[in-house]
Amino acid sequence: MRDLLAALAELRERLKEIPQADERRLSDLKTEILGRKAGALTQILGRLPKLDPSSKKEVGAAANALKREFEAAFDARERELKHAAVAVTGVDASMPGRAGWQGGLHLVTQVVDEICDIFRELGFTRAVGPEAETERYNFFALNFPKDHPALDAQDSFYLGGDVLLRTHTSPVQIRTLERYPPPIRVVIPGQVYRRDPFDASHSPVFQQIEGLAVDEGISFVDFKATLATFARRFFTSDTRVRFRPSFFPFTEPSAEMDVQCQICKGAGCPTCKQSGWMEILGSGMVHPAVLENCGLDSERYTGFAWGMGPERIAMTRHGIPDIRVLFESDVRFLAQFAGGAR
Ligand code: DAH
Repeated sequence: MRDLLAALAELRERLKEIPQADERRLSDLKTEILGRKAGALTQILGRLPKLDPSSKKEVGAAANALKREFEAAFDARERELKHAAVAVTGVDASMPGRAGWQGGLHLVTQVVDEICDIFRELGFTRAVGPEAETERYNFFALNFPKDHPALDAQDSFYLGGDVLLRTHTSPVQIRTLERYPPPIRVVIPGQVYRRDPFDASHSPVFQQIEGLAVDEGISFVDFKATLATFARRFFTSDTRVRFRPSFFPFTEPSAEMDVQCQICKGAGCPTCKQSGWMEILGSGMVHPAVLENCGLDSERYTGFAWGMGPERIAMTRHGIPDIRVLFESDVRFLAQFAGGAR
């Protein structure tokens, strides 16, 4: 016991070294005295359990008091050194760093992936096609008449001759039908181009997702059930849908599908213009002329197709009022939908 008290007294002398120590010396001293295993004071404390009760009490009190003194002295010196360094350099090297930027998938990319994943579960494969197309693929094989307004240079971006930036993803229907025999089930995401203004509801470049199913015996019921199932998986399982008659050159009959407005749940609000519904896609049964243009017997095969705009769908889901925020790359907007890292 005596030798332990003497060791403590000797150790106490070393407190004097602390106020003079530089950063390196300070950290060495700290290890030397308070180090978890070999620290001088730690070792003295480690011997306490073997002492008789009265010695244990005396030595224990002295050792713990000294430990607190050392801790306070180390803290004080550490703070002093830090302030001195900041005063000289103006830099607080002990401040935690700013976390690095972490990228994420763009909201529209996330929506495209999610839509394609739902259709994959329904048996659809993902396919792609070129963004520069000939008039034949973009229009004529899809049964557009020669005088259709979309063929006008006022409405489409022509690259020269009969080549233009595709105005929709529907030409990939033709490329798929030419290349693969039925049964066919594909979803085709991609970028499309139109001479539209850049305003709250238009952009000259945007995404579409095309869908196509062709086989023997595909009926209107398959068509409605597939798209209604998609809508209920993408939105909510109780989302109501409706089909309205429409017209497209490449489908007959044609329909537009509406889903219950996701903002007001059908009650009517400014986003759905009080109708309670939002249009999300154009669709229909593949026109027999399209099948014949691709060398398929339209008596034997039938099918359905649709085209939808993932930007619109993202806006519908999140109540985003202006399409331009999806193109402006403002991280304050995009970071709200961060995540989905690939
Ligand atoms: N291509 C049409 C458009 O851009 C969308 C569309 C409508 C695609 C009906 C289809 C369809 O496949 O069947 O407006």
